[in-house]
Amino acid sequence: MATSVYEYKAVPITSLGLLGLSDEQIKQHEKLYNGYVTNVNKLNTEIAQLLGASKEASPEFAELKRRLGFEYNGMILHELYFSNMKSDGGELPSSSPLFARIVESFGSYETWEKDFKGVAKMRGVGWAILYQNPANGLLSNHWITLHEEGHPAGYVPILIMDIWEHAFTVDYAPTERAKYIDAFFKNIDWTVAANRLVQIHP
Ligand SMILES: [Fe+2]
Repeated sequence: MATSVYEYKAVPITSLGLLGLSDEQIKQHEKLYNGYVTNVNKLNTEIAQLLGASKEASPEFAELKRRLGFEYNGMILHELYFSNMKSDGGELPSSSPLFARIVESFGSYETWEKDFKGVAKMRGVGWAILYQNPANGLLSNHWITLHEEGHPAGYVPILIMDIWEHAFTVDYAPTERAKYIDAFFKNIDWTVAANRLVQIHP
């Protein structure tokens, strides 16, 4: 039985000319992202081959399936991360619907930023993600260690920050994560983030 496999294509990263994050940093990071796309396609191809040989009950099939979450989320989270940065990013306008949701969820923008940066400073490597609950529209910040673990089910990622050291060690020392956090905040594309919000109908 021949099984067709959808081939994912790497999205060219256009978030260059950032403040405090060099093009070389982004280019190196893009190579890592490309590796996730390659591995998604590789896993899907190998799974299709096992299915074609009716080996879906094999340990090999199970192991490949276990790896899918890591590779898929590695691909998707990087695409979301790169695309929520731009060269002329800036502060979140108080007129943005995202600003209103943040205030509704955290009491104030300042409290949200303190909480998000607190997540970004946590020991370990992972992701800081602002998520929206599509059931009630409320926002919450989450720490994700491995790409596939810790995501609240069904929530919508709004703002994604890569906290793995490869995200900043071309430009900063491993001990300078705080500088990377400051740089990230100077480059946020708040329009992209706000457009990810789910409309809540009362
Ligand atoms: Fe990364």
